[in-house]
Amino acid sequence: MSDLVQIIYISRATFEPGPRENGVEPHVGRILMSSRKNNPRRRLVGVLFYGDGYFFQCIEGERSAVQALFSRISDDPRHTDIRVLSMRDIDVRSFNDWSMKYVPAAREVLEELRRFGQSRFNPYEFNEEQVERMVDLLRASADPTTGRLNGPPPRNAPADMMGLTYLAIALATLALAVSCVTLAMVMEWL
Ligand SMILES: Cc1cc2nc3c(=O)[nH]c(=O)nc-3n(C[C@H](O)[C@H](O)[C@H](O)COP(=O)(O)O)c2cc1C
Repeated sequence: MSDLVQIIYISRATFEPGPRENGVEPHVGRILMSSRKNNPRRRLVGVLFYGDGYFFQCIEGERSAVQALFSRISDDPRHTDIRVLSMRDIDVRSFNDWSMKYVPAAREVLEELRRFGQSRFNPYEFNEEQVERMVDLLRASADPTTGRLNGPPPRNAPADMMGLTYLAIALATLALAVSCVTLAMVMEWL
């Protein structure tokens, strides 16, 4: 039986935001690159939001893998004031397609925040319902880094390749069989 958990935490960045590279703050870009390198082999998925100097991250996976990653993240000097908002058991990973999805402080997020009565993103003021809505919003939002920063590979790419290989072998075998039958018929006719 799987032992899946989801953790949601917030923190404050300790770095001064630098000029964006490819639309992403450079420190955040580096965090995303290590996340997308490390998370797949630990079967971890999730989303990272960065806005107004705050992080909001949701990580899903096997309990031991989530705990190990969170302990590493807690020691990371790039952020501070880490506060766990929620840690719960889940049946399935909800960010299945993302080793670490990235959502910047985009228009739709800011609009939702205004509905929360906030003009700036300050997750320390979120109540339980707002945390849930934030995760839903992040699940539905676009990731502008898709295809860059080692973005997630197309889902099931190796499986698709295997499928194509089998199809090619099957077609080649069929062509060979048809040729043999045709040859046999021609020989018989001669
Ligand atoms: C806000 C924040 C979120 C992070 N999320 C992840 C993550 O999802 N996966 C990960 O491997 N590292 C993450 N990191 C980076 C880790 O703290 C750590 O630097 C990294 O895992 C080290 O691995 P590396 O040596 O392969 O870069 C995060 C760091 C910060 C500050």
